Amino acid sequence: MQQGNVKQIGLGSQGLEVSRLGLGCMGMSAFYTGSGQNEADSIGTIHRAMELGVTFFDTAEMYGPYANEELLGKAVAGHRDEVKIATKFGTLLNRGDGSRGLDGSAENVRLSVEGSLKRLNTDYIDLYYQHRMDPATPIEETVGTLAELIQEGKIRHYGLSEAAPETIRRAHAVHPMTALQTEYSLWSRDPEAEILPTVRELGIGFVPYSPLGRGFLTGKIRSVEELDESDFRRNNPRFEGENLAANIRIVEQVDAVAAQVGATPGQVALAWLLAQGDDIAPIPGTKRIGYLEENVGADALTLTPEQLSALASLPAPSGDRYADMSPLNK
Ligand SMILES: NC(=O)c1ccc[n+]([C@@H]2O[C@H](COP(=O)([O-])OP(=O)(O)OC[C@H]3O[C@@H](n4cnc5c(N)ncnc54)[C@H](OP(=O)(O)O)[C@@H]3O)[C@@H](O)[C@H]2O)c1
Repeated sequence: MQQGNVKQIGLGSQGLEVSRLGLGCMGMSAFYTGSGQNEADSIGTIHRAMELGVTFFDTAEMYGPYANEELLGKAVAGHRDEVKIATKFGTLLNRGDGSRGLDGSAENVRLSVEGSLKRLNTDYIDLYYQHRMDPATPIEETVGTLAELIQEGKIRHYGLSEAAPETIRRAHAVHPMTALQTEYSLWSRDPEAEILPTVRELGIGFVPYSPLGRGFLTGKIRSVEELDESDFRRNNPRFEGENLAANIRIVEQVDAVAAQVGATPGQVALAWLLAQGDDIAPIPGTKRIGYLEENVGADALTLTPEQLSALASLPAPSGDRYADMSPLNK
């Protein structure tokens, strides 16, 4: 199916090869305006991504919940060996009714993986992340179970999402971790202080999520009024009132660099991330072929050192990344 040639990288030091730009599938089924409304467009976007050489697809059991894994499984049917599927567990209580809650216990990991394999219509997951850390379960128990799943061939690699440096070290000591997934973009630079140095020291790959600032860095969102009532961003501090107005100055500066290079602000935001290292594979999310093609164009965009440093000195954003920051960086 592949016609394009997005660059492929080794993500981490455990032998996982992925396209350095992946595709985040979350918004096809959950959280954002228009989700769950057009399966054909979403599947078409996944197929177009494969044609362009995108091999790295990101989902989670909680996107939907469950619907996004089913969608991805349907889209890659017949092409399983051409793609790398990353999914996540640990924020649904699969021992009960599937309601939300943090659970990294061995029992829940095993129940979760069976559900994901079924929905994805596959017999292995390439990269299986714990979505949020469970304060009630030692990370050694969770990762011990993940190591068993690797032995059993049900998953090929494991990762964590939004884990603190100490947790990353403890996990990696039980079994080598392939990748950490955490929010990172021009307006979410926090991983640079401790997280990135830690994963680099340990040879763990880094997957920036929400690399377009949940769409904000593309310059297309100027008010939450244009978003559905149920859109996650309506309750996200950075998109609220005065914060949003203040944050628009960030996009204006990204736009100025975009004008210099004849690109879009979203492409500049992605090219800046790609320039941070060849151990980084951002997963911009979209359900539209047009946006996907634009985002993939960032693979060929090179920014000058002056442009990179102008972007690195953008003002800090107003507002937290989430209304509730407590489950993050644990
Ligand atoms: N580990 C975690 O806790 C976590 C948290 C959040 C996300 N993620 C993962 O990361 C992936 C990406 O993050 P994200 O989806 O939150 O944010 P994102 O990639 O920063 O932005 C996605 C938003 O930007 C819009 N967009 C994409 N390309 C565009 C373009 N070229 N021009 C204009 N708008 C564009 C999308 O619109 P449309 O939807 O209309 O196409 C969507 O609303 C997710 O899909 C998910 O797999 C993980």
